[in-house]
Amino acid sequence: MSALKSVGRDVLPHDLFSGKTVFVTGGGSGINLGIARSFAELGASIGMCGRSQERLDAAAAGLRDFGAKVSATSADVRVPEQLQSAMNVSRDALGDIDILVCGAAGNFLVQGENLSFNGFKTVIDIDLVGSFNASRIAFEQLKRTRGSIIFITAPMAHMAHAYQAHVGPAKAGVEMLMKNLALEWGPYGIRSNSIIPGFIEDTEGMRRISSEADSRNFIQSIPLRRLGMTQEIGQAAAFLSSPLAAYITGTSLWVDGGQALSGSGFFNNNSAAFLASNPRA
Ligand code: COA
Ligand code: NAP
Repeated sequence: MSALKSVGRDVLPHDLFSGKTVFVTGGGSGINLGIARSFAELGASIGMCGRSQERLDAAAAGLRDFGAKVSATSADVRVPEQLQSAMNVSRDALGDIDILVCGAAGNFLVQGENLSFNGFKTVIDIDLVGSFNASRIAFEQLKRTRGSIIFITAPMAHMAHAYQAHVGPAKAGVEMLMKNLALEWGPYGIRSNSIIPGFIEDTEGMRRISSEADSRNFIQSIPLRRLGMTQEIGQAAAFLSSPLAAYITGTSLWVDGGQALSGSGFFNNNSAAFLASNPRA
């Protein structure tokens, strides 16, 4: 993990988030761990949850290498009692949450006509209901700290993508949740924004929707001609949580190398072949 290059520490004060607590749902891997790492590098304490305690423990060990205090307790975001308990453990160890990152999500590629009722509900429950649960449970802490929330959404929230009839509505719902909370909780000093990552290399999300070869082809549709890196989402989260963003709320920040400008056609054209070559086990 420490081998990954991050420019956050090169351009921002190392103690930017010293004394601050960041809680990341789904923080044990991928983009969310990249976000946790960016905050840890800049002095924050990290609370996090996910379903696998083993994964969280491995992630926490990496974050402690940066000198961060970490509280990592397994919880399923669909179960408010579990989430409440993980946030209580974090609060007791690290203090009130200043920045909540709602990143836990689930995805798989499936044709709409083959998507089961429970498959649709499962993704809505993790992405949308889980994001509401986390925000609602963290509210009192965020009110005390005049903190902020960052929701991790996806291009599917704004553009139809093939075989994503569950993810599109789930992430679009999260985008609206972000805006509603910005409206209602702004008077408490709580800001609410989202980050929309593009295609981020070496992540589970990418592996579930494309092959290595597809990923390389996608690059032709990305104006900056490369995939994104997890630490670049972390850097965007650091910006949105810094005093530089004090007047920014209710907005979505695309961090996608300009990929949305090309639409979803390239993705749609590859999806049938990917699904055919990766049948569900
Ligand atoms: N294709 C079609 N349907 C699928 C599927 C697939 N690849 N994977 C799961 N489902 C369906 C299941 O069949 C089930 O529906 P059913 O009861 O009608 O059969 C439903 O989705 C729930 O599956 P289950 O495995 O019980 O859910 P879970 O709560 O244990 O796990 C998932 C949630 C399915 C999202 C799982 O993939 C996961 O844990 N994902 C987390 C990691 C991830 O997705 N990372 C990328 C983030 S963008
Ligand atoms: P990932 O590594 O699989 O991250 C998802 C995390 O959420 C995992 O750590 C997982 O841990 C956790 N999680 C899943 N279900 C959960 C639940 N019910 N309760 C608690 N935690 C749960 O995948 P990723 O690709 O980095 O995705 C991270 C975020 O970025 C997601 O919100 C995704 O939609 C978004 N995104 C990704 C991309 C991309 O290119 N990868 C692009 C756009 C948006 P456990 O399994 O241990 O619970």
